[in-house]
Amino acid sequence: MTSVINSDKIPNNVDLSSDKKLQRALEAWQPRFIDWWKEMGPEGFQEDQVYLRTAISVDHDGWAHFDYVKMPDYRWGIFLTEPEPNRKIGFGDFYGEPAWQTVPGEFRNSLRRLIVTQGDTEPASVEQQRLLGQTCPSLYDLRNLFQVNVEEGRHLWAMVYLLHSYFGRDGREEAEALLERRSGNPDKPRILGAFNEPCQNWLSFFMFTYFTDRDGKYQLLALAESGFDPLARTTRFMLTEEAHHMFVGETGVMRVVQRTAELMKKNRHEDARAEGGIDLPTIQKYINFWYSVSLDLFGGEISSNAANFFAASLKGRAKEDGYTDHRVIDGSYAMDVPVADKESNVTGWKKEDVPLRNAMNEVLRDEYVRDSQRGLEKWNRVLEEAGIQYQFRLPSRRFHRQNGIYGGLYFDVDGNPMSKEDWEKSRDGWLPSAADEAYVASLMTAPVYEAGKMAHWIAPPKQGIKGRPVEFEYVRR
Ligand SMILES: [Fe+2]
Ligand SMILES: [Fe+2]
Repeated sequence: MTSVINSDKIPNNVDLSSDKKLQRALEAWQPRFIDWWKEMGPEGFQEDQVYLRTAISVDHDGWAHFDYVKMPDYRWGIFLTEPEPNRKIGFGDFYGEPAWQTVPGEFRNSLRRLIVTQGDTEPASVEQQRLLGQTCPSLYDLRNLFQVNVEEGRHLWAMVYLLHSYFGRDGREEAEALLERRSGNPDKPRILGAFNEPCQNWLSFFMFTYFTDRDGKYQLLALAESGFDPLARTTRFMLTEEAHHMFVGETGVMRVVQRTAELMKKNRHEDARAEGGIDLPTIQKYINFWYSVSLDLFGGEISSNAANFFAASLKGRAKEDGYTDHRVIDGSYAMDVPVADKESNVTGWKKEDVPLRNAMNEVLRDEYVRDSQRGLEKWNRVLEEAGIQYQFRLPSRRFHRQNGIYGGLYFDVDGNPMSKEDWEKSRDGWLPSAADEAYVASLMTAPVYEAGKMAHWIAPPKQGIKGRPVEFEYVRR
């Protein structure tokens, strides 16, 4: 068992001080990370004391410590799960061989690309969420936002550690570039689409942490199988923190739904907006938006990149253990592929048996779709219990896609093809319109900083954090 060093500049369980060159390189990157945090992290809260969880080891119980900390003083550390002795590669062409402790030369570029793409999402989400604190619905929520933000910062550290340790000079250059790109900036955008979408209000934040962080979970599960052992161990530990981010999303939406139900019951016409709440059709539109942009993050349905990553034993399937065939040389995945004319009208469908390795993005997306459904069922139960006849649903995975076989084509929420013109006429019935955005923004013009108090449009949480009451002062202004 590697010991945890918390006294160093960079807390770690990788015995950083035994590699002076690496330690110096990371210590040189650290102040640049802090500069980035101060510039692009939560705006207006850097001096506040926040009741935060900090990872201090990888022990199952007691891996985290809770206390007040100013965010720029947060101890971002490097933690890998304990090595599995004699770990064997679990899938792909190298199935059954010993896991790699160094980067195999022929896969160096692919591996670096996987790490950089994952790493880029972490600071991107902090940038997307940087103004949200100023309209927080409670101190409890404010703290949760910051908890998610500091941990995304730690996930960036996790990827930068791999780049610095295993990729020499180009790794260090990539680590710099991770601090230079900016979410939504047309000249130097973040790599993936959803991470350039503005996250301007708290409904979007809860949807983001429910749907987009869940994409993160599945990407991490696939990387946790990697034949490159340091990547597998890093991502395994990141999953521990990720669970809380999705909890924030799931319970956040649930509390909005619960409050909406209460407000509907107070109104003769069950009109939530008339009572200052967020009406159910608007919530559904936010589901449609964040779910569809998150589906795009899995990449094309038919993908030679995905096949190559799998063949090279770099990126597997979520929970590879649950499958029986780990080489996947001859399986296939039956897909209906739309055929379109020049005007993007779907004119027919072609049945294709896609070699399974080429369908790995879709295999991972299938797991994600199933998992996403679970939260909706919980939200629907809140409505049922309130006696409200309305059910949320996930739109078809063809709806509002930017890449893959449906990208650039037009489908309704049930997956029926339609013309661009008709789609544009219906758009505001499916996705948040400018008026919806303005309405939601109008509910969130001022922050709620009084301990235990909640904004009008959201119900309180069932319980506080780490045994503290809901009224606890989670952020000391
Ligand atoms: Fe993350
Ligand atoms: Fe996350």
